Amino acid sequence: MIEENVRRQWVTPALVVDFDETQANLRKMVELAGDPARLRPHCKTHKMPAMVRLWLELGVTRHKCATFAEAEMLATAGAEDVLLAYNIVGANIDRVVAFRRQFPQVRFTVLVDHPEPLRALSDALHRADQHVRVMLDVETGLRRTGIPPGEAAIRLYRAIHEDDALEPAGLHWYDGHLHQRDRGERKAAVLSEWEACRKLRASLEAEGLPVPTIVAGGTGTFPIYAGLPDPGVELSPGTCVFHDAGYAHAFPDLPFTPSARLLTRVISRPTAGRITLDAGTKAVAADPPQEKRIVFPDLPDARIVLHNEEHLVLETDEADRFAPGDELLGIPWHICPTSALHREAIVVRHGLEYARWVVAARDRQLTI
Ligand SMILES: Cc1ncc(COP(=O)(O)O)c(C=O)c1O
Repeated sequence: MIEENVRRQWVTPALVVDFDETQANLRKMVELAGDPARLRPHCKTHKMPAMVRLWLELGVTRHKCATFAEAEMLATAGAEDVLLAYNIVGANIDRVVAFRRQFPQVRFTVLVDHPEPLRALSDALHRADQHVRVMLDVETGLRRTGIPPGEAAIRLYRAIHEDDALEPAGLHWYDGHLHQRDRGERKAAVLSEWEACRKLRASLEAEGLPVPTIVAGGTGTFPIYAGLPDPGVELSPGTCVFHDAGYAHAFPDLPFTPSARLLTRVISRPTAGRITLDAGTKAVAADPPQEKRIVFPDLPDARIVLHNEEHLVLETDEADRFAPGDELLGIPWHICPTSALHREAIVVRHGLEYARWVVAARDRQLTI
């Protein structure tokens, strides 16, 4: 609970993070991983230097990201090892060189799944007399990026190995399509696809190509990979640092608590049975379907009937309870794009404002 006289000062819509709940999520992640060295949390969920510092306090030095702004935010906040888990193409190729120059102390790795960008990356690094670690992005069944396990994957990995500007860093295996609600079914799905990854690693190693690490999974599959007796696996969940209503619904077995909320105010009661809040699509992520954008624990019957840029219209039998100016706390359905909509989060502890955490990497470009 946030004290009313504290809340009243805040401009809405506001992203509000509970410090103790968030820290408990982080600690549970380390506990599940068994060792901070097995954990490589994805920072896309928070994009906040303050969160990276919390990770460092827990001994987690390896981090994952999807953009150069996130990579720069991580490095500036003190991360020692950064995996930019995104295929590097076009103008981003020169940003690899720039990143290596600006942060030579950071162990930096990028992804590749195709020979052409690999060649362009190699050329740029040779010209600059630089090198970088490269991980092969492997197609898991998500069918988003990656090269399918097989001969072409082995050829591409060999090309990384044979290039003195590139260091083979292992395999990237992200299976974000596995959303089985039942833990046992999810585990069976993970293990059946994982076999192809293990086989690929074995084939590479049989050819004398080292595979130091496999970076695997997100939040849903985290406990399953954590349970594998495989010292070569690093775990890369992201969402569970804040968790959200979507994942709480999708993965009821996970021990995390939604710790980020949106504070919103009633701005109108336009017709009977309706209230309108200042929680538009510029404050809470607009992933489809419209009915699943945010959940209000104090208003369980609320139905979202309209979601515009600055307006969220709810239908509820309880509309009479509300007057313009009244506050509601909602749990976003998808926290990662929601946090990116805010310049900062208000961090609360014991009902009071504790800090403001800047969402530094919400921009596409910082200095690089
Ligand atoms: C490549 C990659 N790794 C890890 C994650 C983290 O997954 P989750 O959001 O389920 O924690 C994501 C999420 O989008 C991702 O795209």
